[in-house]
Amino acid sequence: RLFELHESHMSETDIAPIGIIGGTALADLAELEAAETRSDIDTSWGAPSGPLVRGHLAGRAVCFVMRHGPGHKLAPHRINYRANIQALADAGCKQVIAIAAVGGITDAMRAGRIVIPDQIIDYSWGRAHSFYDDERGGLLDHIDFTDPYDAALSKALVDAAQGLKLDPAAGGVHGVTQGPRLETAAEIDRMARDGCDIVGMTGMPEAALAREAGLDYACCAVVVNKAAGRSGGAAIHAEIEATLAQGMADIERLLVAVLPE
Ligand code: HPA
Repeated sequence: RLFELHESHMSETDIAPIGIIGGTALADLAELEAAETRSDIDTSWGAPSGPLVRGHLAGRAVCFVMRHGPGHKLAPHRINYRANIQALADAGCKQVIAIAAVGGITDAMRAGRIVIPDQIIDYSWGRAHSFYDDERGGLLDHIDFTDPYDAALSKALVDAAQGLKLDPAAGGVHGVTQGPRLETAAEIDRMARDGCDIVGMTGMPEAALAREAGLDYACCAVVVNKAAGRSGGAAIHAEIEATLAQGMADIERLLVAVLPE
């Protein structure tokens, strides 16, 4: 247990902080009152991407980790997803909200839109994608993954976003590619035929690992660009830059709204 030392003066809610995995769309949480930053975390799967910041957001105990690490250095295929999930579980989290910047495939997924996806198609490969690798994962379980995201937590995010008049997309298929390169136009066309609404690079194996670990996990994505072949080619980076700041601000407001004290 990571925070055992502090448990004697913790309240009930402190004991189950909400885990937040910050992505490209949420590099840091300005509103987070950090009580403790732990840079020395090690799990049975190795070290998480960066320090675990435990603090309060809108009065609610949260535990925050940056998916790409400090300075956004870790590429999607180099992230130790198992260590990140394990570290949040070890910190006592029962619920995890995963933030992600994504590309929009369908017209409805316009830049700036908040999306709470309800399905996943995994196109990533070669990633350590399960805790059931050896004895560290315990007795093998084939988790049910019919609905990859936690329905209640997803609904709470949708409701909070609607309350803020953010016009969120409730549901959508999140296609997860390997990266770090962006996709070709034909790859995005194929994903559209498959039924994908948005495309990102880090949604898996994170979601499946959270399920294996018994955590309620939901994704809060923000569309930062039109996916490849859907708009002006190399202008994609300018579009991402232009959308990211507002997206981060919206997500932070959403997190504050969704975390009741
Ligand atoms: N493709 C994949 N991942 C992404 C994109 C994209 O267009 N935008 C943000 N993350």
